[in-house]
Amino acid sequence: MSRVAVVTGSNKGIGFAIVKGLCKRFDGVVYLTSRDDDRGRKAVAELNKLGLHPEYHQLDVTDRSSVLKFRDHIEEKHGGLDILVNNAAVVDAEYITSYENSKEVIDINFKSVLTMQELIYPLVRNNGRILNISSDCGHLSNLKNMYWIKRLSKKDLKIEDVNEFVDWFLESKKNGTFNPEDFVENGTVAAYRVAKMALSAATMIQQKELEARNISVNSMHPGLVRTDMTTGKGFYDIDQAAETPLYLVLDAPQSLKGAYVWFDRRVLDWYDYNAHYYFKIKTISN
Ligand SMILES: NC(=O)c1ccc[n+]([C@@H]2O[C@H](COP(=O)([O-])OP(=O)(O)OC[C@H]3O[C@@H](n4cnc5c(N)ncnc54)[C@H](OP(=O)(O)O)[C@@H]3O)[C@@H](O)[C@H]2O)c1
Repeated sequence: MSRVAVVTGSNKGIGFAIVKGLCKRFDGVVYLTSRDDDRGRKAVAELNKLGLHPEYHQLDVTDRSSVLKFRDHIEEKHGGLDILVNNAAVVDAEYITSYENSKEVIDINFKSVLTMQELIYPLVRNNGRILNISSDCGHLSNLKNMYWIKRLSKKDLKIEDVNEFVDWFLESKKNGTFNPEDFVENGTVAAYRVAKMALSAATMIQQKELEARNISVNSMHPGLVRTDMTTGKGFYDIDQAAETPLYLVLDAPQSLKGAYVWFDRRVLDWYDYNAHYYFKIKTISN
């Protein structure tokens, strides 16, 4: 049976470059997936021109029926998968966003990964690898609220804690009690920060749940990368940015688990809330 790798949101940007790298290096079938069929098929055609041949399947990570169709396809055609990169994401439309936009960001960047956990993780074969693409916005140092810092740092953290953190933020946006001082950088891109912190926290919970099957689950920050998300600003191009994700799913020791990894492969202490790993607006506005 062939080995299988899947990357979500891979019609462009870093996800596209991860698919490209997997096509070159992974001994198995690689799936490029996208929420929009046309954009996905165009991306496949681009890789075909380079002599690379990923499979394609539609996958909107926020649409449960789309995830179910994808699950059934993988199960029927391959019986399971070996590598999953949860990459699909969006960023806040404004530095300080509305409740509606915040909810959309949380749904795409965080809640969708819980859907993937429920529906797709059971198909990940023993000794497989899951990589959650987080951000510097996903480091705990983005948070200033001590109650939530302490709660998210609990050794026996449960997904309920993480969900309540996200709900607390959304509620504050809904009822107008959002306090920028609960976050670094005057509460800018707070929805993205909350979603990515929740994702990196959930990664550690997911790791524990999959430990018995020796599946590694890590989250990582890819660096500031020139993509549509950053309106083309950044220090790296997408192929450079894909190097550490590819290392983590193909080359890193299987014993590397539940880690928060920086773009230069360093494993950082996610709990160090006084650290300066948080996202600084000036890096993108200059
Ligand atoms: N670029 C950076 O500097 C940077 C820094 C830190 C972290 N990251 C993270 O790196 C990852 C890739 O970002 P990027 O910079 O490559 O962004 P990008 O170029 O904007 O690509 C994002 C991808 O996610 C897809 N997507 C959005 N919503 C989706 C959904 N509901 N279902 C499936 N796919 C969906 C997009 O599809 P459409 O084309 O249909 O919109 C697109 O393919 C993200 O997790 C991002 O948060 C990026």
